Amino acid sequence: MRILSGIQPSGSLHLGNYFGMMKRMVDYQENNELFCFLVNYHALTSVFDAPFLRRQTFEAACDFLALGLDPDKTVFYIQSDVPEVTELTWLLSNITGMGLLERNHSYKDKVAKGLPASHGLFSYPVLMAADILLYGADKVPVGKDQKQHLEIARDIAIRFNSTYGETFVVPEPDIEDDLATVPGIDGQKMSKSYGNAIEIFSDEKSLKKKIMSIKTDSTPVDQPKPIEENLLYDIYALFLDTQGQEELKERLLTPGLKYGELKKELCSVVWDYFAPYRQERKRLAADGGFVVETMQEGARKARQVAAVYLDRARRNVGLDYWHK
Ligand code: ADP
Ligand code: TRP
Repeated sequence: MRILSGIQPSGSLHLGNYFGMMKRMVDYQENNELFCFLVNYHALTSVFDAPFLRRQTFEAACDFLALGLDPDKTVFYIQSDVPEVTELTWLLSNITGMGLLERNHSYKDKVAKGLPASHGLFSYPVLMAADILLYGADKVPVGKDQKQHLEIARDIAIRFNSTYGETFVVPEPDIEDDLATVPGIDGQKMSKSYGNAIEIFSDEKSLKKKIMSIKTDSTPVDQPKPIEENLLYDIYALFLDTQGQEELKERLLTPGLKYGELKKELCSVVWDYFAPYRQERKRLAADGGFVVETMQEGARKARQVAAVYLDRARRNVGLDYWHK
């Protein structure tokens, strides 16, 4: 099975990215053919600061490698190191109906949140479809927020195949219900751009500050605490197996539990969970040459596969004018 997913290097990676996508990708690499990439072309729709984008791209590469993405098992690369994707975007653009893009919620949401209403932002899903179709991916692990983008990618693949003949694999979304939307400390979806994210590799002080400000209800200490719509429970539960989750529910239902104490406990749980990766992360960040070389080697492998699909698409639409 060919599994593929990407992430925007538009800010520090957080628990939503980790549980919604990154951890699942690392787990998948044992038994599948994996493609994983940092979508810096996509990040250009919201980042207009070149040094920031450069830095975040490097940081995100370090994050993935430290968390166990193995470049010998996975084709790991930076989107813009495979510029073929922009050519495919153009070929796909011409069979993508305006209505399909106009119905896209994420465009409207991003504009409502203050992003410039650019053509790039509007056609974001076409570039994303190209990311997927260029590698013949069967399955795309993402969080729930990407569901509509995946449907658009499927529609584009089907439309292209029916217009020009079988060219692309029609990809399946892979969304895990339990991890579909990790909430941020304010209860909205955790996101790099909402200021509500708990970062994977922040320092201990910032981690504490974030976790201590998770929004909780005002149930008095001597009353049982709710389980439903309890943000603190939802975030803590990500780090627990089923038995641990049951135990935490019991503790919440038992009067006397202080949210403040539970938050302190969660700080240690998160800090310890990422401790082994933190060492590796530090080592990688200090070896920039190795990280850059690894990414470039990944791009070389990616380009070999991309060339096959792009060539097929070019021929099928009739750009091979020499074959009269
Ligand atoms: P962000 O919203 O922080 O900018 P991205 O759009 O770059 O995140 O998302 C990268 C990947 O992480 C996608 O697969 C996305 O679905 C997943 N993801 C992002 N935020 C969350 C979340 N809060 N819960 C679950 N998955 C998430
Ligand atoms: N749009 C995705 C996000 O914001 C990132 C992305 C770009 C992606 N291309 C992709 C995800 C291809 C999966 C497959 O999270």
